[in-house]
Amino acid sequence: MAANPSAGPAGEKRIMCVGLVCLDIISVVEAYPAEDSDSRCVSQRWQRGGNASNSCTVLALLGAPCSFMGSLAPGHSADFIVADFRRRGVDVTHVAWQPRGDVPCACCVVSATSGSRTIVLYDTNLPDVTARDFERVDLSQYKWIHWEVFISKDLAQHLGYQSAPEALQGLHSCVQPGATLICAWAEKGADALGPNGELVHSDAFPPETLVDTLGAGDTFNAATIFALSAGKSLQDAITFGCQIAGRKCGIQGFDSIV
Ligand SMILES: Nc1ncnc2c1ncn2[C@@H]1O[C@H](COP(=O)(O)OP(=O)(O)O)[C@@H](O)[C@H]1O
Ligand SMILES: [Mg+2]
Repeated sequence: MAANPSAGPAGEKRIMCVGLVCLDIISVVEAYPAEDSDSRCVSQRWQRGGNASNSCTVLALLGAPCSFMGSLAPGHSADFIVADFRRRGVDVTHVAWQPRGDVPCACCVVSATSGSRTIVLYDTNLPDVTARDFERVDLSQYKWIHWEVFISKDLAQHLGYQSAPEALQGLHSCVQPGATLICAWAEKGADALGPNGELVHSDAFPPETLVDTLGAGDTFNAATIFALSAGKSLQDAITFGCQIAGRKCGIQGFDSIV
């Protein structure tokens, strides 16, 4: 019998993440450079990046069969990205190949002193996936589809909120009744508002040394989804999310988060 490319081993249902994939060009520096200075970095690497793409990396490392859905345009960046998805065992059947546009690229500076990440994204004219692309997905193969429903600290601050609980309370009225809202907040950990209005919190699990926080939020999202999709409670899920995200902050990249 032909293997079903969408299902995991033994027909296990998959998790799909829909959203951005980009090329991250990462320079690790001793300390964040001053504007208009000329300095050397400690190390430099290319990494497959983008929120949905990073979350797929973490799900794959946690052992969850997963698929990525997002736009790419053929070329060197896409070759690198697709090879890296395959290396991690992430299904790329639902990549929406675009005939026009360039793959987005982010220049990222990671400070080895603080672990901070400063990102400058060139978000190109690459068209997004459409409803029509999504119609081709056989939903029966999936147990979870992720589209940025989680609120990041950056977005919450942009909307004027100063803490995760404040953002959750403020945004509660903007979502459908019965929805769950989850907001991570760097070293403060994460909070969530359940379908019955109950607020739960997890402290962060800081690593011994903060090394690289690039993709911490994507890691938190993936680990939280992993736990929720396995039937864990909201409290246990955000606690697991913070544990795995904390581990990620203690290493460069994602290789040894589990
Ligand atoms: N400086 C930090 N110390 C401890 N944990 C952190 C730190 N930064 C991030 N984390 C962990 O990663 C999660 C997501 O981090 P956050 O900074 O909110 O995401 P991002 O900046 O990637 O959007 C947090 O909930 C926390 O568990
Ligand atoms: Mg952060």
